[in-house]
Amino acid sequence: MHREYRSDDWNSYKMVYGEPHRQLEPLEKEIEVVDEALNVLKEVGILPHTDYDHEKMLAHRKAVAENFEIPWTAITPRMQRLLYAINAIIQPENMIAAGVFCGNTFISNAGAGAGPGAVYKAKNLIGVEIKPEEAERAERNVRTIDPTGVARVIAEDAVDTVKNFPDQIQALYLDADGDKARGKGIYLEILQGAYDKMPPGSVIMAHNSVNAAKRLEQYTKFVRDPANFKASVNVIFDIEGLEVTGK
Ligand SMILES: C[S@@+](CC[C@H](N)C(=O)[O-])C[C@H]1O[C@@H](n2cnc3c(N)ncnc32)[C@H](O)[C@@H]1O
Repeated sequence: MHREYRSDDWNSYKMVYGEPHRQLEPLEKEIEVVDEALNVLKEVGILPHTDYDHEKMLAHRKAVAENFEIPWTAITPRMQRLLYAINAIIQPENMIAAGVFCGNTFISNAGAGAGPGAVYKAKNLIGVEIKPEEAERAERNVRTIDPTGVARVIAEDAVDTVKNFPDQIQALYLDADGDKARGKGIYLEILQGAYDKMPPGSVIMAHNSVNAAKRLEQYTKFVRDPANFKASVNVIFDIEGLEVTGK
């Protein structure tokens, strides 16, 4: 089943990439839009419910704002909240995020299981970044809010990480922009490597479902095929978008 959630203002809700912490709208509005998206994810059976701890979410946001070095990011406050909420709701034992740059996207997912926003005990929250110097900065950022090491960033090709991961993967976040040959098409390669390890109830989140829609055509064809997945929803509340798929 394929659905779309689109907010009225998706095209005018914009961030400045160099100002990741600037508030773009009243908090109530942000919560309302994210709740609407979560409700669609629940309706199609991707999420079991839509409840998550709003105070913990803000504790997570504050810790990242105070401690992370973020040169730029395309993760809007709405997207940060949605990623946190999905992880807080499904509580993945193992989560892999591919293409994490400075770590902001990674911690938006991992923040539900590590640091001051944690609401459950995770086993492995792994961010993967192919550029060693970026992976190093991301790891440094993550260490400032998670002393346990449950959340960590490694320098690797995410295609190899999912293939070699020895356990089940309950959540997979895709944001790698590949290289010249592979580009955003790499999402499909990573997902296919993880597919057999993803149990029923697991969730895949793919960033840039709007502004990279053309380059993600093969990927979206695969995740929207009912032979492969229970349901997939294109969440459009900013100009980047997130395709959320449930197995
Ligand atoms: C453009 S960034 C994503 C930024 C993110 N949307 C944000 O707003 O913070 C994509 C990252 O994917 C990394 N990347 C590309 N191919 C990869 C691969 N095969 N495995 C892991 N990381 C990869 C790039 O080095 C880059 O840092």
